[in-house]
Amino acid sequence: MTDTAGVDVGSTQTKAVVIRDGGIIGRSLIDTGANVSEAAEKAFGLAVADAGIERDDVGHVVGTGYGRYRVDFGDSQVTEISCHGRGAVAMFPGTRTVLDMGGQDTKAIRVDANGEVVDFCMNDKCAAGTGRFLGAAATALELPLDDLGPTALAGTRPVRISTTCTVFAESEVLAWLGRGSKVEDILAGVHDSISSRSMGLLRRVGVESEITFTGGVSRNVAMVEVMERVLSQPLNVSEDSHFMGAIGAAFIGADRLRPEPSPAGVAS
Ligand SMILES: Nc1ncnc2c1ncn2[C@@H]1O[C@H](COP(=O)(O)OP(=O)(O)OP(=O)(O)O)[C@@H](O)[C@H]1O
Ligand SMILES: [Mg+2]
Repeated sequence: MTDTAGVDVGSTQTKAVVIRDGGIIGRSLIDTGANVSEAAEKAFGLAVADAGIERDDVGHVVGTGYGRYRVDFGDSQVTEISCHGRGAVAMFPGTRTVLDMGGQDTKAIRVDANGEVVDFCMNDKCAAGTGRFLGAAATALELPLDDLGPTALAGTRPVRISTTCTVFAESEVLAWLGRGSKVEDILAGVHDSISSRSMGLLRRVGVESEITFTGGVSRNVAMVEVMERVLSQPLNVSEDSHFMGAIGAAFIGADRLRPEPSPAGVAS
């Protein structure tokens, strides 16, 4: 029973990962929706099926994310800050700073070489620098999420987005459309606005290389490009990035399965 799992029940999407011997053998991603326990249950079942194993083969399940206490079948719960840190260092060992941009929260996390959290900082209650803000812009422009990044990259004259509130993002986007601005320039402006908020968080924890970009927004190519530009350095990002919280949770689960080493010099 060496397999362990992490179930990251985010405010927007639920991610589950199964690992064996430090490698991912199964994963799943679904919308969280209104029934948080059900999302946890379903995501875990899908990841286990993807791994081709039975639920009972999983030795330890760690729940994380805002809905971690609703992972009823979990063996333990860990904050997503710890899990993103641990996952990022497991995937990119040189990581010392993590930027997690999710559906509702953006977090800047500084970690040590073991993936332990040294410091972190997150957005206040307002979701203006998060995936939700991008979602509001996508709705206003009637674009699927997948098209946001590629469209924004075509922008040459980004508009200045002044709203600091997601609730008003949609009307500001519509106002720019009404003034005749191009969709790509509006989206470029939305990405710039989110990047400057993220930079504020990163500065507060102190940026140390390497930086790993995690969370669903890391799938957005324009966001990666804008952040690399403002940080003047490349970011670690991969197809695992959206799953990083769940990956870290599964690694923490593996630590918890491992027997404690006996103190040096003490015979056991
Ligand atoms: N294919 C995609 N392209 C661009 N953006 C995406 C894509 N898939 C998801 N996203 C963005 O990622 C967000 C969800 O990210 P994530 O799953 O990390 O959030 P979460 O963990 O549920 O939220 P939080 O951590 O804030 O509680 C969505 O709001 C969306 O903006
Ligand atoms: Mg999250």
